[in-house]
Parts: sequence; structure tokens; C-alpha cells
Amino acid sequence: MAISIMFQIFIVTFLQYFSASILAANPTYNVISYGAKADGKSDCAKAFQAAWGAACASASPATINVPRGRYILGNVHFEGSTCKNNAITIQIDGTLLAPSNYNAIGNSVHWLMFKRVTGVSIRGGTLDGLGANLWVCKASGKKCPQGATSLAFLNSNKISISGLTSINSQMFHIVIHGCRDTKLQNIKIIAPDESPNTDGIHIGRSSGVSITNSRIATGDDCISMSPGTSNVFVQNVACGPGHGISIGSPGWVLNEAGVENVTVKSCVLSGTQNGVRIKTWARPSNGFVRNVHYEDLTMVNVINPIIIDQNYCPNNKNCPNQSSGVKISGVTYKNIHGTSATETGVSLKCSKAEPCTGIKLDKVMLNYKNKAVGTVCGNAVQTMDGVIKPLKCLA
Ligand SMILES: *[C@@H]1O[C@H](CO)[C@@H](O)[C@H](O)[C@H]1NC(C)=O
Ligand SMILES: *[C@@H]1O[C@H](CO)[C@@H](O)[C@H](O)[C@H]1NC(C)=O
Repeated sequence: MAISIMFQIFIVTFLQYFSASILAANPTYNVISYGAKADGKSDCAKAFQAAWGAACASASPATINVPRGRYILGNVHFEGSTCKNNAITIQIDGTLLAPSNYNAIGNSVHWLMFKRVTGVSIRGGTLDGLGANLWVCKASGKKCPQGATSLAFLNSNKISISGLTSINSQMFHIVIHGCRDTKLQNIKIIAPDESPNTDGIHIGRSSGVSITNSRIATGDDCISMSPGTSNVFVQNVACGPGHGISIGSPGWVLNEAGVENVTVKSCVLSGTQNGVRIKTWARPSNGFVRNVHYEDLTMVNVINPIIIDQNYCPNNKNCPNQSSGVKISGVTYKNIHGTSATETGVSLKCSKAEPCTGIKLDKVMLNYKNKAVGTVCGNAVQTMDGVIKPLKCLA
């Protein structure tokens, strides 16, 4: 009797354990099983969508596998609002290609778009936006589509992207908009110097974004941050060619969310148009940029290594007072060294309506042709510490 009860307990425990381990086994969804062909010919958008749908429908952590090979994809919208899953990993061992005719995706804003997702990780993979023909069209002055961002995460939380390479996007490479908690690491971005509007990573209306250990070579800003962005951490990023690491451009709108708590650390900018830039519209606005720390940066032949420009107003249009309402405060430049490609290495042109406050330069040592760079300032009130030579223009 005792033995049989113990045996029953054993069986029940065993079955419980066994079924629990079945539930715990993380399901995987291979895009090939959903009809994708890695032949670089067939459009695989439907197959990717179907694999996503299946992963979303499962409540346990799931992996979508994209095996080696070349996959052509038209627009794919990965929607998360009906997902049961908040832990989906997309493991990409292959290359995702935009259709060779740029019109196929060129009029949609985003090529691969994740919206309202939580807990999505992308690991590995190459995205090739095949943007070159569109850039040629744009340069010719003909009527062409605006172009699509290669990868966008919109209104999403807990996103991780690692080991991803993006080449030749039509427009921006990666956009993070309306997101919380996003980690980008070991990202490689490659597009030619002259490719138009190919920002590397663009952040807007997002909080908690880190970008680490990445290389960005592109035709526009390596990293750009627009209004409503906070708690950004950038470390070990190599930028160049490109337009540098930018906060821009707040101040277009009167009532606008600010940009705050941004750290950019241990980065190298080579041959870029700007090093670290803050650019605001010369328009009335209650926006702000505050609590920004630039530290341990190396500039190599950068045209504008340190620049604040609050007079931004292309063609002098729509700027009634020619002065920016955006309040810039608490910006620290610490241990910034290397070479400038122009005589003016430090340019702080702040708003006459809202002068910059708390600009701190500490061990800024930049050379132009083996001599310390010149500085230009206007409306900047600073606290000084350490070395910048010459420091003639600051009060
Ligand atoms: C500022 O941003 C960092 C990330 O760089 C974050 O760890 C920190 O909590 C933020 N500080 C505040 C006050 O939110
Ligand atoms: C221009 O500036 C003046 C004084 O600085 C201010 O009174 C006026 O409202 C401003 N105009 C606009 C359109 O913001």
C-alpha cells in the first residue's frame, strides 16, 4: 500500500515536472517553415509576418530564426498590440534585402517596422536597404520617393538590438521613437559619406536608450536625438564619415518636450562634419536641452568638433525673431582632445533670447595645424575649469 502511494506520488510529480518542462521549452519559429526562400529572389515579407504572428501568439519566450542566406523583403509591419508574448528573440544569420526597385518601399516611411512591441531582441543579421539608386535619383533633381528608414521601433518597450549591420539605407538606418528601455550594442552602420539623410541611429520621444560598442559610417548624423528624448547613454562609438553626434533640432514647435540627461563617452569622431553638436531652430519655443555630458572624446580632423548652434534657420524662413526659445543649460565638455579640420574648434552660438547657462569646458585640447583651435561664442554663460586654449571669447 505504502509503496503504491509513493509510486503514485512519484508518477504525479514526474508528470508535473515533465509537462512543466514542455511548457518551458522555448518554441522556435523558422521563417523557412513559413515559406521564406533564402534565394535572394522571392519576396519573403509574408513568411516573416507569419512567423511573427506565430511567435506573438505564444505566451512563452520564443525565438524566430532566420537562417543564413539572402531574403528579399518588401515592407513588413511587426505589430505588437495583440501579442501575448513579451520575450521574442529574432536571431538573424542571413541578410535581409530591400526590393531592388526603390519604389517598392520608398514611399512608406519605414521598411521594417516594429510597433507597440515589448521585449523584442534582434541578434545578428544584415539589413541592406539598397539605397544607392534612390540617392542617384535624388541627386538628379527628378521627382523621387522620400525613402524609407530601414529599421524602426515605434512606441515599444524593452528592446535590444545587438550584432546587427545596416548598410545603404534609403533614408535613416535605425529609428527609435516613442520607446522606453532600448539597448543597442555592437551595431555596424555603413553608407557612403555623400548619401543623403542616412542618419545612423535616430532617437525621438524616447527614454532610456543606450548605444555602445558600435561603428557608424554614414552620410548624415551618426546619432541624432530629437525633442522628447531623455536618459541616453552613448559609449565606445566610432563615428565617421558622417555629421557627428547631434542633438537636433529642437525648437520648431512652440510647446515642445525637451532633451535631457544625455551622456556621450569614450567616442572617436573621424573626418566628420561635426563632433558633438547641439542645434536648435531660431524660433519661439519653450523647449530645452539640459544636463548633457560629453566626456573622453577623440576628434580626428573634424570640421566642427564642439558646436552649439541656436541660429538654425535654413533660407531664413519661418524664424520671426531669428532667435531660439530653446533653453540650453548644464552642458559639460570634459577631456575632449584631437584635431580640428578648421581654425574654429569650439563654437558656442547660443540664443540671444535664452543665453546658454552652465556650459563647462574642462580639459578641452583641440589643435588645428598644430596650434590650439580658436573659439567663437555668443550668449554663453559658463563656469570654467581646467584648460581650453585660447579662451578669449567666453566672459
Ligand atoms: C540619466 O541617464 C542615465 C543613463 O545614461 C540613467 O542611468 C540615469 O538614471 C538617468 N538619471 C535620471 C535622473 O533619470
Ligand atoms: C519676438 O521677440 C519679442 C521680444 O523679444 C517678443 O515680445 C515677441 O513676442 C517675439 N515674437 C515672436 C513671434 O515670438
